[in-house]
Amino acid sequence: MSTVLKADRSVAESPAEIRITDLSMRYRTVSGDSVFALDRVSLAIQPREFVCVVGTSGCGKTTLLRIIAGLVRHTAGRVHLRDREISGPSADVGIVFQGPVLLPWKTVLENVMIPVVVLGLDRDAHRRRAMELLDLVGLSGFEDKYPKELSGGMQQRASIARALVHQPSLLLMDEPFGALDAMTRETMNLELQRIVKDAAITVLFITHSIQEAVFLGDRIVVMTPRPGRIAESMTIDLPRPRELDAMSAPEFGSYVRAVRRLLNARGMTH
Ligand SMILES: Nc1ncnc2c1ncn2[C@@H]1O[C@H](COP(=O)(O)OP(=O)(O)OP(=O)(O)O)[C@@H](O)[C@H]1O
Ligand SMILES: [Mg+2]
Repeated sequence: MSTVLKADRSVAESPAEIRITDLSMRYRTVSGDSVFALDRVSLAIQPREFVCVVGTSGCGKTTLLRIIAGLVRHTAGRVHLRDREISGPSADVGIVFQGPVLLPWKTVLENVMIPVVVLGLDRDAHRRRAMELLDLVGLSGFEDKYPKELSGGMQQRASIARALVHQPSLLLMDEPFGALDAMTRETMNLELQRIVKDAAITVLFITHSIQEAVFLGDRIVVMTPRPGRIAESMTIDLPRPRELDAMSAPEFGSYVRAVRRLLNARGMTH
């Protein structure tokens, strides 16, 4: 492994934004058997850290995200969001799902306002914030359009604005740019970096793209095939802000190769 690469397995420091301890998840299927999705995952994420998770399809990444989001209940272990154990959805969390999931009968602005309505927050104050966020993600002028009038990339940007409207401290993103073409995806990566810096939030970002993980992450967590365990946690020591040119730097290539080697060592082909 190159000297620029540092393994980081520490989960001891506090206070963490998220602290996951010995988390296991076994789904009960409709037919009565069980699927062992996560096996004793331990991971601490520090405030304002940007952590990318990579791992083969079916290794439990979405499961991990849904547990942290409080959308599904784990079978063993503990998950803390700062000092509170997670027991359900939290106003401190924003989620961007894989593929845009906007309600087709609501306008862009109404879609962005959904968390405000659901959480019963002040609508007038947050409408201003929603407009600012739409501006930040480059969608000024589209607030009264309907999702079908937007491109896939624009819909995904609206989803990001929606995830941030209630000012969460933690942003969970599940392959948010997986369906986009390569150029739009690069633009989104640059924009996301800027948005996250402005919002000063912690991010857990799932991706299948090693390049994307190295470009965005302060740290990359590599998972094993199912049942998912943490195979490695690698700090990405590249200066910020990162421009697209950073991808052609030798250090960038070293990180990409190191992550690919870890995935290949686990029997994954990427
Ligand atoms: N609701 C469910 N009921 C039963 N099994 C499930 C359920 N959700 C997920 N699983 C199983 O748990 C395992 C992990 O699924 P998960 O969606 O977390 O994987 P993933 O890493 O996100 O995969 P991908 O990269 O394809 O999105 C899979 O074997 C899947 O079949
Ligand atoms: Mg998934």
